[in-house]
Amino acid sequence: QTGYITIDAGYKNTGATKSAITFLDGEEGILNYRGYSIEDLAEKASFLEVAYLLIYGELPNEKEFADFEYEIRTHTLVNEDMRKIFEGFPVNAHPMGVLSSLVSAMSAFYPETFDQNADDVTQLHIIRLLAKLPTIATWSYKKSQGHPVNYPKNGLDYCSNFLNMMFSLPVADYDVDPVVANALNKLLILHADHEQNCSTSTVRLVGSSHANIYSSISSGISALWGPLHGGANQEVIEMLEAIKNDGGDTQKYIDMAKDKTSGFRLFGFGHRVYKNFDPRARIIKKAADEVLSKLGINDPVLEIAQKLEKAALEDEYFVSRKLYPNVDFYSGIIYRALGIPTNMFTVMFAIGRLPGWIAQWKEMRENKEPIGRPRQVYVGAPKRDFVQMNER
Ligand code: SDX
Repeated sequence: QTGYITIDAGYKNTGATKSAITFLDGEEGILNYRGYSIEDLAEKASFLEVAYLLIYGELPNEKEFADFEYEIRTHTLVNEDMRKIFEGFPVNAHPMGVLSSLVSAMSAFYPETFDQNADDVTQLHIIRLLAKLPTIATWSYKKSQGHPVNYPKNGLDYCSNFLNMMFSLPVADYDVDPVVANALNKLLILHADHEQNCSTSTVRLVGSSHANIYSSISSGISALWGPLHGGANQEVIEMLEAIKNDGGDTQKYIDMAKDKTSGFRLFGFGHRVYKNFDPRARIIKKAADEVLSKLGINDPVLEIAQKLEKAALEDEYFVSRKLYPNVDFYSGIIYRALGIPTNMFTVMFAIGRLPGWIAQWKEMRENKEPIGRPRQVYVGAPKRDFVQMNER
Protein backbone atom coordinates (compact mmCIF):
# COMPACT_ATOMS: atom_id res chain seq x y z
CA GLN A 1 0.00 0.00 0.00
CA THR A 2 2.79 2.42 0.72
CA GLY A 3 4.77 1.47 -2.39
CA TYR A 4 3.47 4.22 -4.67
CA ILE A 5 2.39 6.93 -2.18
CA THR A 6 4.71 9.88 -1.40
CA ILE A 7 3.83 12.20 1.48
CA ASP A 8 3.99 15.92 0.70
CA ALA A 9 3.15 17.57 4.05
CA GLY A 10 1.43 20.93 3.45
CA TYR A 11 1.37 20.14 -0.29
CA LYS A 12 4.60 22.15 -0.67
CA ASN A 13 5.39 20.40 -3.95
CA THR A 14 1.97 19.26 -5.10
CA GLY A 15 -0.07 20.85 -7.86
CA ALA A 16 -3.77 20.29 -7.11
CA THR A 17 -5.23 21.55 -10.37
CA LYS A 18 -4.80 23.52 -13.60
CA SER A 19 -6.22 27.03 -13.36
CA ALA A 20 -6.58 29.98 -15.73
CA ILE A 21 -7.36 32.52 -13.01
CA THR A 22 -4.21 33.72 -11.18
CA PHE A 23 -0.51 33.51 -11.99
CA LEU A 24 2.13 33.71 -9.25
CA ASP A 25 5.88 33.76 -9.72
CA GLY A 26 7.43 33.35 -6.28
CA GLU A 27 11.00 34.07 -7.39
CA GLU A 28 10.21 37.18 -9.43
CA GLY A 29 7.40 38.42 -7.15
CA ILE A 30 4.82 38.48 -9.94
CA LEU A 31 1.04 38.33 -9.32
CA ASN A 32 -1.38 38.56 -12.27
CA TYR A 33 -5.19 38.10 -12.30
CA ARG A 34 -6.28 36.67 -15.69
CA GLY A 35 -3.07 38.10 -17.18
CA TYR A 36 -3.40 41.62 -15.75
CA SER A 37 -0.76 42.70 -13.18
CA ILE A 38 -1.95 43.65 -9.71
CA GLU A 39 0.13 46.82 -10.03
CA ASP A 40 -2.07 47.90 -12.97
CA LEU A 41 -5.34 46.69 -11.44
CA ALA A 42 -4.65 48.26 -8.00
CA GLU A 43 -4.02 51.63 -9.65
CA LYS A 44 -6.61 51.67 -12.45
CA ALA A 45 -9.53 49.34 -11.64
CA SER A 46 -12.38 49.18 -9.16
CA PHE A 47 -12.74 46.15 -6.91
CA LEU A 48 -15.99 45.16 -8.64
CA GLU A 49 -14.26 45.31 -12.05
CA VAL A 50 -11.59 42.96 -10.67
CA ALA A 51 -14.26 40.69 -9.17
CA TYR A 52 -15.91 40.49 -12.62
CA LEU A 53 -12.52 39.81 -14.25
CA LEU A 54 -11.66 36.97 -11.84
CA ILE A 55 -15.09 35.31 -12.02
CA TYR A 56 -15.90 35.67 -15.76
CA GLY A 57 -12.38 35.88 -17.21
CA GLU A 58 -12.50 39.31 -18.92
CA LEU A 59 -12.59 42.95 -17.81
CA PRO A 60 -16.21 44.13 -18.25
CA ASN A 61 -17.19 46.74 -20.84
CA GLU A 62 -19.45 49.57 -19.70
CA LYS A 63 -22.73 47.70 -20.25
CA GLU A 64 -21.44 44.48 -18.66
CA PHE A 65 -20.19 46.43 -15.64
CA ALA A 66 -23.41 48.43 -15.31
CA ASP A 67 -25.49 45.23 -15.38
CA PHE A 68 -23.16 43.51 -12.88
CA GLU A 69 -23.18 46.47 -10.51
CA TYR A 70 -26.99 46.77 -10.81
CA GLU A 71 -27.42 43.06 -10.00
CA ILE A 72 -25.25 43.45 -6.91
CA ARG A 73 -26.88 46.68 -5.74
CA THR A 74 -30.32 45.04 -5.87
CA HIS A 75 -29.27 42.06 -3.73
CA THR A 76 -27.50 43.81 -0.84
CA LEU A 77 -30.41 43.35 1.60
CA VAL A 78 -30.17 40.30 3.84
CA ASN A 79 -33.23 38.27 4.83
CA GLU A 80 -34.48 39.77 8.08
CA ASP A 81 -34.65 36.27 9.62
CA MET A 82 -30.84 36.18 9.33
CA ARG A 83 -30.87 38.98 11.91
CA LYS A 84 -32.55 36.62 14.38
CA ILE A 85 -29.65 34.16 13.97
CA PHE A 86 -27.21 37.04 14.33
CA GLU A 87 -28.91 38.36 17.49
CA GLY A 88 -28.13 35.04 19.16
CA PHE A 89 -24.36 35.66 19.11
CA PRO A 90 -22.70 37.10 22.24
CA VAL A 91 -21.51 40.68 21.80
CA ASN A 92 -17.86 39.61 21.90
CA ALA A 93 -18.23 36.88 19.27
CA HIS A 94 -15.31 37.08 16.85
CA PRO A 95 -16.55 38.57 13.56
CA MET A 96 -14.94 35.73 11.56
CA GLY A 97 -16.96 33.16 13.50
CA VAL A 98 -20.11 35.18 12.88
CA LEU A 99 -19.30 35.58 9.18
CA SER A 100 -18.61 31.90 8.51
CA SER A 101 -21.78 30.92 10.41
CA LEU A 102 -24.06 33.35 8.60
CA VAL A 103 -22.63 32.57 5.15
CA SER A 104 -23.27 28.88 5.85
CA ALA A 105 -26.77 29.81 7.04
CA MET A 106 -27.43 31.46 3.66
CA SER A 107 -27.74 27.96 2.18
CA ALA A 108 -30.84 27.50 4.37
CA PHE A 109 -32.47 30.59 2.89
CA TYR A 110 -31.93 29.58 -0.72
CA PRO A 111 -32.98 25.95 -1.07
CA GLU A 112 -32.55 26.14 -4.84
CA THR A 113 -28.88 26.11 -3.85
CA PHE A 114 -29.12 22.36 -3.94
CA ASP A 115 -30.02 22.26 -7.61
CA GLN A 116 -26.48 21.51 -8.67
CA ASN A 117 -26.90 21.82 -12.41
CA ALA A 118 -28.71 25.10 -12.96
CA ASP A 119 -26.04 27.60 -14.05
CA ASP A 120 -28.38 30.59 -13.77
CA VAL A 121 -28.98 29.57 -10.15
CA THR A 122 -25.23 29.60 -9.58
CA GLN A 123 -25.05 33.06 -11.14
CA LEU A 124 -27.71 34.24 -8.67
CA HIS A 125 -25.77 32.78 -5.74
CA ILE A 126 -22.58 34.51 -6.93
CA ILE A 127 -24.43 37.85 -6.96
CA ARG A 128 -25.99 37.18 -3.55
CA LEU A 129 -22.62 36.38 -1.95
CA LEU A 130 -20.88 39.45 -3.40
CA ALA A 131 -23.83 41.66 -2.47
CA LYS A 132 -24.56 40.42 1.03
CA LEU A 133 -21.13 39.69 2.53
CA PRO A 134 -20.36 43.38 3.22
CA THR A 135 -23.80 43.88 4.79
CA ILE A 136 -23.34 40.87 7.09
CA ALA A 137 -19.73 41.80 7.86
CA THR A 138 -20.69 45.20 9.30
CA TRP A 139 -23.29 43.75 11.69
CA SER A 140 -20.63 42.42 14.09
CA TYR A 141 -18.94 45.80 14.36
CA LYS A 142 -22.19 47.67 14.97
CA LYS A 143 -23.20 45.17 17.69
CA SER A 144 -19.77 45.44 19.35
CA GLN A 145 -20.29 49.22 19.51
CA GLY A 146 -23.81 48.87 20.88
CA HIS A 147 -25.05 50.66 17.74
CA PRO A 148 -27.99 49.71 15.51
CA VAL A 149 -26.97 47.89 12.31
CA ASN A 150 -27.19 49.92 9.10
CA TYR A 151 -28.92 48.97 5.89
CA PRO A 152 -27.12 49.19 2.55
CA LYS A 153 -27.75 52.27 0.39
CA ASN A 154 -28.12 51.44 -3.27
CA GLY A 155 -26.87 54.81 -4.41
CA LEU A 156 -23.34 54.12 -3.10
CA ASP A 157 -20.53 52.20 -4.80
CA TYR A 158 -19.30 48.96 -3.26
CA CYS A 159 -16.60 50.39 -1.00
CA SER A 160 -18.58 53.48 0.01
CA ASN A 161 -21.57 51.29 0.85
CA PHE A 162 -19.44 49.14 3.13
CA LEU A 163 -17.92 52.18 4.86
CA ASN A 164 -21.34 53.77 5.26
CA MET A 165 -22.77 50.60 6.85
CA MET A 166 -19.76 50.44 9.15
CA PHE A 167 -19.63 54.03 10.33
CA SER A 168 -22.88 55.91 9.75
CA LEU A 169 -25.14 56.52 12.76
CA PRO A 170 -28.85 57.44 12.95
CA VAL A 171 -27.85 60.66 14.66
CA ALA A 172 -25.43 61.96 12.06
CA ASP A 173 -24.85 61.51 8.34
CA TYR A 174 -21.58 59.90 7.36
CA ASP A 175 -19.71 61.32 4.36
CA VAL A 176 -17.34 58.81 2.82
CA ASP A 177 -13.83 60.27 2.49
CA PRO A 178 -12.59 59.46 -1.05
CA VAL A 179 -9.11 58.82 0.38
CA VAL A 180 -10.59 56.14 2.64
CA ALA A 181 -12.74 54.61 -0.11
CA ASN A 182 -9.80 54.52 -2.56
CA ALA A 183 -7.52 52.90 0.03
CA LEU A 184 -10.15 50.25 0.74
CA ASN A 185 -10.64 49.65 -3.00
CA LYS A 186 -6.91 49.06 -3.43
CA LEU A 187 -6.67 46.72 -0.44
CA LEU A 188 -9.62 44.61 -1.58
CA ILE A 189 -8.11 44.27 -5.07
CA LEU A 190 -4.77 43.15 -3.61
CA HIS A 191 -6.51 40.42 -1.59
CA ALA A 192 -8.84 39.25 -4.36
CA ASP A 193 -7.13 35.98 -5.33
CA HIS A 194 -3.91 34.09 -4.78
CA GLU A 195 -4.10 30.76 -6.65
CA GLN A 196 -4.20 27.64 -4.45
CA ASN A 197 -3.62 29.11 -0.95
CA CYS A 198 -5.02 27.31 2.09
CA SER A 199 -8.51 28.88 2.10
CA THR A 200 -8.96 28.64 -1.68
CA SER A 201 -7.88 25.00 -1.64
CA THR A 202 -10.47 24.48 1.11
CA VAL A 203 -13.21 26.06 -1.00
CA ARG A 204 -12.25 23.82 -3.93
CA LEU A 205 -12.07 20.67 -1.80
CA VAL A 206 -15.47 21.25 -0.16
CA GLY A 207 -16.97 22.22 -3.53
CA SER A 208 -15.51 19.11 -5.16
CA SER A 209 -18.07 16.99 -3.25
CA HIS A 210 -20.75 19.17 -4.96
CA ALA A 211 -21.59 20.81 -1.66
CA ASN A 212 -23.41 24.09 -2.28
CA ILE A 213 -21.50 27.32 -2.90
CA TYR A 214 -22.45 28.92 0.46
CA SER A 215 -21.09 25.96 2.45
CA SER A 216 -17.94 25.97 0.32
CA ILE A 217 -17.30 29.69 0.83
CA SER A 218 -18.09 29.39 4.55
CA SER A 219 -15.38 26.71 4.78
CA GLY A 220 -12.93 29.08 3.09
CA ILE A 221 -13.75 31.78 5.66
CA SER A 222 -12.97 29.33 8.45
CA ALA A 223 -9.62 28.34 6.90
CA LEU A 224 -8.69 31.99 6.36
CA TRP A 225 -9.28 32.73 10.06
CA GLY A 226 -6.17 30.77 11.10
CA PRO A 227 -3.28 32.95 12.39
CA LEU A 228 -0.87 31.34 9.89
CA HIS A 229 -3.12 32.50 7.03
CA GLY A 230 -5.49 35.48 6.87
CA GLY A 231 -5.66 35.74 10.66
CA ALA A 232 -2.05 36.99 10.52
CA ASN A 233 -3.16 40.57 9.75
CA GLN A 234 -4.76 40.79 13.20
CA GLU A 235 -1.73 39.09 14.82
CA VAL A 236 0.63 41.61 13.17
CA ILE A 237 -1.05 44.65 14.71
CA GLU A 238 -1.26 42.94 18.10
CA MET A 239 2.45 42.09 17.79
CA LEU A 240 3.36 45.69 16.80
CA GLU A 241 1.27 47.03 19.69
CA ALA A 242 3.09 44.65 22.08
CA ILE A 243 6.46 45.87 20.78
CA LYS A 244 5.35 49.51 21.17
CA ASN A 245 4.17 48.85 24.74
CA ASP A 246 7.44 47.06 25.39
CA GLY A 247 9.43 50.22 24.65
CA GLY A 248 9.80 49.58 20.91
CA ASP A 249 12.44 46.89 21.42
CA THR A 250 12.16 45.23 17.99
CA GLN A 251 15.39 43.23 18.42
CA LYS A 252 13.90 41.43 21.43
CA TYR A 253 11.03 40.16 19.26
CA ILE A 254 13.34 39.25 16.41
CA ASP A 255 15.46 37.20 18.82
CA MET A 256 12.28 35.57 20.20
CA ALA A 257 11.17 34.64 16.67
CA LYS A 258 14.57 33.02 16.05
CA ASP A 259 14.32 30.97 19.22
CA LYS A 260 12.25 27.90 18.25
CA THR A 261 11.46 27.16 21.91
CA SER A 262 9.66 30.50 22.23
CA GLY A 263 6.82 29.33 19.96
CA PHE A 264 6.70 32.95 18.72
CA ARG A 265 6.65 33.82 15.01
CA LEU A 266 7.14 37.22 13.43
CA PHE A 267 3.62 37.55 12.05
CA GLY A 268 3.41 39.14 8.63
CA PHE A 269 6.74 37.59 7.62
CA GLY A 270 7.34 34.62 5.35
CA HIS A 271 5.43 33.03 2.53
CA ARG A 272 5.16 29.58 0.99
CA VAL A 273 5.57 30.89 -2.56
CA TYR A 274 7.21 34.33 -2.49
CA LYS A 275 10.90 33.92 -1.76
CA ASN A 276 12.22 37.42 -2.55
CA PHE A 277 9.31 39.72 -1.81
CA ASP A 278 5.51 39.75 -1.79
CA PRO A 279 4.51 42.26 -4.50
CA ARG A 280 1.34 43.07 -2.56
CA ALA A 281 3.36 44.02 0.54
CA ARG A 282 5.34 46.52 -1.56
CA ILE A 283 2.17 48.22 -2.82
CA ILE A 284 0.52 48.19 0.61
CA LYS A 285 3.62 49.57 2.35
CA LYS A 286 3.67 52.52 -0.10
CA ALA A 287 -0.08 53.01 0.30
CA ALA A 288 0.24 53.00 4.10
CA ASP A 289 2.60 55.98 3.97
CA GLU A 290 0.28 57.83 1.51
CA VAL A 291 -2.98 57.13 3.34
CA LEU A 292 -1.67 58.04 6.80
CA SER A 293 -0.16 61.30 5.57
CA LYS A 294 -3.31 62.23 3.57
CA LEU A 295 -5.44 61.52 6.65
CA GLY A 296 -2.95 63.34 8.86
CA ILE A 297 -2.46 60.28 11.05
CA ASN A 298 0.81 59.63 12.85
CA ASP A 299 0.54 55.98 13.93
CA PRO A 300 3.60 54.95 16.01
CA VAL A 301 3.20 51.30 14.96
CA LEU A 302 4.03 52.26 11.35
CA GLU A 303 7.47 53.36 12.48
CA ILE A 304 7.84 50.17 14.52
CA ALA A 305 6.80 48.08 11.49
CA GLN A 306 9.41 49.82 9.32
CA LYS A 307 12.06 49.35 12.03
CA LEU A 308 11.14 45.67 12.44
CA GLU A 309 11.23 45.06 8.66
CA LYS A 310 14.63 46.71 8.33
CA ALA A 311 16.14 44.76 11.25
CA ALA A 312 14.72 41.42 10.05
CA LEU A 313 15.96 41.94 6.49
CA GLU A 314 19.46 42.42 7.86
CA ASP A 315 19.30 39.30 10.04
CA GLU A 316 20.88 36.06 8.77
CA TYR A 317 18.07 33.91 10.23
CA PHE A 318 15.42 35.67 8.14
CA VAL A 319 17.57 36.21 5.07
CA SER A 320 18.70 32.56 4.96
CA ARG A 321 15.08 31.40 5.23
CA LYS A 322 13.93 33.98 2.67
CA LEU A 323 11.46 35.53 5.08
CA TYR A 324 10.13 38.89 3.87
CA PRO A 325 7.06 40.95 4.73
CA ASN A 326 3.91 39.40 3.24
CA VAL A 327 0.52 40.85 2.39
CA ASP A 328 -0.48 40.90 6.08
CA PHE A 329 2.45 42.90 7.41
CA TYR A 330 1.32 46.43 6.50
CA SER A 331 -2.36 45.94 5.67
CA GLY A 332 -3.54 46.28 9.29
CA ILE A 333 -1.89 49.71 9.56
CA ILE A 334 -4.10 50.96 6.76
CA TYR A 335 -7.26 49.25 8.06
CA ARG A 336 -6.61 50.95 11.42
CA ALA A 337 -6.21 54.33 9.74
CA LEU A 338 -9.58 53.74 8.04
CA GLY A 339 -11.15 53.23 11.48
CA ILE A 340 -11.61 49.47 11.13
CA PRO A 341 -11.12 47.63 14.45
CA THR A 342 -8.41 44.97 14.74
CA ASN A 343 -10.80 42.04 15.13
CA MET A 344 -12.36 42.96 11.77
CA PHE A 345 -9.09 42.83 9.80
CA THR A 346 -9.48 39.21 8.72
CA VAL A 347 -13.10 39.93 7.76
CA MET A 348 -11.68 42.58 5.40
CA PHE A 349 -9.39 39.92 3.95
CA ALA A 350 -12.45 37.67 3.43
CA ILE A 351 -14.40 40.43 1.65
CA GLY A 352 -11.42 40.95 -0.65
CA ARG A 353 -10.83 37.23 -1.25
CA LEU A 354 -14.50 36.40 -1.93
CA PRO A 355 -14.37 36.92 -5.73
CA GLY A 356 -11.27 34.73 -5.90
CA TRP A 357 -12.93 31.94 -3.93
CA ILE A 358 -16.02 32.21 -6.17
CA ALA A 359 -13.92 32.20 -9.37
CA GLN A 360 -11.94 29.15 -8.25
CA TRP A 361 -15.10 27.28 -7.12
CA LYS A 362 -16.80 28.04 -10.46
CA GLU A 363 -13.73 26.92 -12.46
CA MET A 364 -13.49 23.68 -10.45
CA ARG A 365 -17.20 22.87 -11.09
CA GLU A 366 -17.12 23.91 -14.77
CA ASN A 367 -14.07 21.70 -15.29
CA LYS A 368 -16.02 18.85 -13.67
CA GLU A 369 -13.04 18.11 -11.42
CA PRO A 370 -13.27 14.87 -9.38
CA ILE A 371 -13.97 14.84 -5.65
CA GLY A 372 -10.79 15.55 -3.71
CA ARG A 373 -9.68 12.45 -1.83
CA PRO A 374 -5.92 12.16 -1.07
CA ARG A 375 -4.35 8.92 0.28
CA GLN A 376 -2.06 8.33 3.28
CA VAL A 377 0.78 6.14 4.52
CA TYR A 378 -0.52 4.07 7.48
CA VAL A 379 1.81 4.07 10.48
CA GLY A 380 -0.60 2.79 13.16
CA ALA A 381 -0.97 -0.52 15.04
CA PRO A 382 -0.68 -3.81 13.09
CA LYS A 383 -3.78 -6.06 12.90
CA ARG A 384 -4.77 -7.35 16.38
CA ASP A 385 -7.61 -9.35 18.02
CA PHE A 386 -10.39 -7.77 20.08
CA VAL A 387 -9.98 -8.07 23.89
CA GLN A 388 -13.02 -8.10 26.22
CA MET A 389 -13.13 -5.11 28.55
CA ASN A 390 -12.76 -7.24 31.69
CA GLU A 391 -9.51 -8.63 30.27
CA ARG A 392 -7.92 -5.23 29.46
C1 SDX B 1 -1.18 34.56 3.83
O1 SDX B 1 -0.53 30.89 0.57
C2 SDX B 1 -0.89 32.11 0.35
O2 SDX B 1 -0.85 32.58 -0.74
C3 SDX B 1 -1.39 32.86 1.57
C4 SDX B 1 -1.67 34.33 1.36
C5 SDX B 1 -2.85 34.53 0.44
O3 SDX B 1 -2.93 35.61 -0.18
O4 SDX B 1 -3.75 33.65 0.42
O5 SDX B 1 -0.54 34.96 0.80
C6 SDX B 1 -2.02 35.02 2.67
O6 SDX B 1 -1.59 33.65 4.52
C7 SDX B 1 0.15 35.20 4.08
C8 SDX B 1 0.96 34.53 5.26
C9 SDX B 1 0.44 35.11 6.59
N1 SDX B 1 1.00 34.33 7.71
C10 SDX B 1 1.92 34.89 8.55
O7 SDX B 1 2.41 36.00 8.40
C11 SDX B 1 2.29 33.97 9.72
C12 SDX B 1 3.82 33.94 9.88
N2 SDX B 1 4.36 33.25 8.72
C13 SDX B 1 4.55 31.86 8.82
O8 SDX B 1 3.89 31.12 9.75
C14 SDX B 1 5.03 31.14 7.56
O9 SDX B 1 5.99 31.92 6.98
C15 SDX B 1 3.98 30.78 6.53
C16 SDX B 1 2.84 30.05 7.13
C17 SDX B 1 3.49 32.00 5.84
C18 SDX B 1 4.66 29.89 5.47
O10 SDX B 1 4.97 28.70 6.09
P1 SDX B 1 5.85 27.56 5.34
O11 SDX B 1 5.97 27.87 3.90
O12 SDX B 1 5.29 26.24 5.76
O13 SDX B 1 7.31 27.76 5.93
P2 SDX B 1 7.81 27.11 7.27
O14 SDX B 1 6.79 27.29 8.37
O15 SDX B 1 8.26 25.73 6.96
O16 SDX B 1 9.06 28.05 7.59
C19 SDX B 1 10.33 27.81 7.01
C20 SDX B 1 11.32 28.24 8.09
C21 SDX B 1 11.10 27.50 9.43
O17 SDX B 1 12.35 27.49 10.10
P3 SDX B 1 13.28 26.13 9.99
O18 SDX B 1 12.36 24.97 10.39
O19 SDX B 1 13.69 26.06 8.54
O20 SDX B 1 14.41 26.37 10.95
O21 SDX B 1 11.16 29.63 8.38
C22 SDX B 1 10.72 29.78 9.73
C23 SDX B 1 10.18 28.44 10.19
O22 SDX B 1 10.32 28.28 11.59
N3 SDX B 1 9.68 30.80 9.71
C24 SDX B 1 9.57 31.81 10.57
C25 SDX B 1 8.49 32.57 10.12
N4 SDX B 1 7.96 32.01 9.01
C26 SDX B 1 8.70 30.91 8.76
N5 SDX B 1 10.30 32.12 11.68
C27 SDX B 1 9.90 33.26 12.31
N6 SDX B 1 8.86 34.05 11.94
C28 SDX B 1 8.13 33.73 10.85
N7 SDX B 1 7.11 34.51 10.46
